[in-house]
Amino acid sequence: MRLEKYIATSGIASRRSVKKRILAGAVTVNGEPVLVPGHPIDVETDAVEFEGKRVEPLTEHIYLMLNKPAGYITTRSDERGRPTVMDLIRDLPDTIYPVGRLDSETEGLLLFTNDGDFAYRLLHPSHEIDKTYLAWVQGVPNDDAIQRLRRGVTIPSGTTAPAKIERLKPSKDHKSTQFEVTIHEGKKRQVRMMFKAVKHPVIRLKRIQVGTLKLGSLPSGRYRFLTSDEVSELLML
Ligand code: URA
Repeated sequence: MRLEKYIATSGIASRRSVKKRILAGAVTVNGEPVLVPGHPIDVETDAVEFEGKRVEPLTEHIYLMLNKPAGYITTRSDERGRPTVMDLIRDLPDTIYPVGRLDSETEGLLLFTNDGDFAYRLLHPSHEIDKTYLAWVQGVPNDDAIQRLRRGVTIPSGTTAPAKIERLKPSKDHKSTQFEVTIHEGKKRQVRMMFKAVKHPVIRLKRIQVGTLKLGSLPSGRYRFLTSDEVSELLML
């Protein structure tokens, strides 16, 4: 395995920073500094140290969040060759997969793991985990439209459960309005369909929180590993 991949998949730091630190001489293999990110590592026998600390072989379970940009499909592979979220987490073990999905045009927090129990617990409808989105919608919905969204509206896949809907701010020209929306269901294109039902289509949609986990300032297109506290908190929901 390549040195940078070995270190990155151990969860110690993101791949980008691992590469920089290797080039800066922060990594030794069997006691010798190695400045080549592609240096081959024998997972069974080589001793790798990162900034003086032993890097253990691959952790059993991997949990990470990606800030998904628009234009990427949530799938492991696309037969038509379109960009997929897997393109953004290259160099990680190919046993990891997305937990749930975001539409191609939707941005924001997408989890990945290779832990089937974790994925199951997060996705199972009975757990009703809250997911929060920022939605920019056309026009300025009135109070009646907002009340309807809160109570539940009829969309092609059924009637939506009560949702938290907070109007943030209209744009200066009053052509669009920003909302914070929290739902716990996962109906197909749910947030887009909800606003479509009240005649204010979504222009832009970004998921900013899943359960206790916030996207924070993670840049678009980048990923980071979850801390063990973040994983345990999600499993306690
Ligand atoms: N609701 C949507 O409309 N799209 C998503 O990707 C997620 C929730």
